[in-house]
Amino acid sequence: MPQLPLPLEWPDTHNVQDHQRERAELEARYAPRLRYALEWAQWVSYVGNRDVPGLRLYRYKEAFSYKLVRQFLRRLGPDLPTPLVLDPFMGMGTTPFAAMRNGFPSAGVDRLPVAVAVAEGLLALLRLQPGQLLETFRLLRRNLSSFPPAPIADDVRIVRLAFPEEIREHLQRWKSAVDTLESPLREAFLLLFLSILEPCSQTAKDGQFLRLRPDKPIPSPDEVLKQQVTRAEEDVRFFHRVRSQERWGPPPSLWNGDARNLRSFLPKETVGFIITSPPYANRYDYTRTYSLELCFAFVRNFAELRDLRHSVLRSHIESRLNADEKPPHPAVEEVEKALAGKQLNNPKIPAMLRAYFVDMEAVVREMYRVLAPGGWVVMVVDNVRFEGEMVPVDLILSDLAERHGLHASEIWIARFKGNSSQQMRKYGRKPVRESILLWQKPA
Ligand SMILES: C[S@@+](CC[C@H](N)C(=O)[O-])C[C@H]1O[C@@H](n2cnc3c(N)ncnc32)[C@H](O)[C@@H]1O
Repeated sequence: MPQLPLPLEWPDTHNVQDHQRERAELEARYAPRLRYALEWAQWVSYVGNRDVPGLRLYRYKEAFSYKLVRQFLRRLGPDLPTPLVLDPFMGMGTTPFAAMRNGFPSAGVDRLPVAVAVAEGLLALLRLQPGQLLETFRLLRRNLSSFPPAPIADDVRIVRLAFPEEIREHLQRWKSAVDTLESPLREAFLLLFLSILEPCSQTAKDGQFLRLRPDKPIPSPDEVLKQQVTRAEEDVRFFHRVRSQERWGPPPSLWNGDARNLRSFLPKETVGFIITSPPYANRYDYTRTYSLELCFAFVRNFAELRDLRHSVLRSHIESRLNADEKPPHPAVEEVEKALAGKQLNNPKIPAMLRAYFVDMEAVVREMYRVLAPGGWVVMVVDNVRFEGEMVPVDLILSDLAERHGLHASEIWIARFKGNSSQQMRKYGRKPVRESILLWQKPA
């Protein structure tokens, strides 16, 4: 593949400057374990879920695809020391959902209640009879005016600006109507309700932020919800058809929890396979991207939203660093020093990077604790680049994993991401890896 860029950032360690030495040595040490796996590019993003029944109903942009999980279960699943599959950053629940459909017991954890609700909604669909959703939709719609507007966190600015008043009130009535339902209809309808908030608002999820789009035309919430109900009905019928042909595993356990500390959920050495993708060190703030959903269903006011923001993994710019927290890896320290001399567009980036790796080291420790000997971790991560400084997240995490007793056996490069046009102008084009890490706990 001659047209491809080399996977190594610094192929020649003798020829690097001091401020790059740690990273260059890391690249050299892990070079034999790096390999191209560009055929996986289509599966590391949520785009691969567009046609997957259930998963297609919610646009969780940070998700990876059903097929990625299925492929790894097929490859490594037969030889696991114990069958339990875990995703400690489950997002919309792609991993537990795929594990279940492929015959494995599984568990999923996410700190964001929206994510847990979406994952629970998907599982609820599997417990419904064809026709139930449509019938319930018609009933609720007929009586909608009798439901009072549900309380929402309307002291959050974006929520006030996101909807014309009558649309917001209408959606609040729908939320009250959904709250009256019994399980599993309630969880399924909550998923569908959450899925229409962004389309029915003057906002758009856009990487780091939820952006206001005042000119965006707003469709009728009832019509959008009806479309979603119709799609969900198709999926319920699909699941009824395939259920008898597939060997499903038991329903997954889903928890609203913290990947840095899984002690209340999982005793040691109980998990055979961790398939996951943590937040990337790219400043994205999930509590902003999903603020409409959070404010309609999970937080009562701005203070609760802010508390949630400070309880997630510290991958965003408002992350707070404690005074006693040191860089957990020399390459992190090196990046911090390199950035110190630069004009950053946000001065908090170095603190965020340190906090990110401190948190991810805690996650690695937990992974080691819960994995049974011989168990595997498959983790999708992005490298990042700030002011021309490359942060090899894939290698730093793999090195931390090795320090904590895991064997970082392979690093697959699934795709290269571009740089912002600003970085390219200033520092030239340097492809940034998105990688799949394969680690194993020694047997
Ligand atoms: C890249 S997404 C994972 C997406 C998932 N693979 C899917 O297919 O939907 C990362 C997830 O980590 C969650 N998260 C952030 N901090 C967390 C923490 N401390 N513990 C557990 N989950 C966390 C975010 O809410 C987000 O859903």
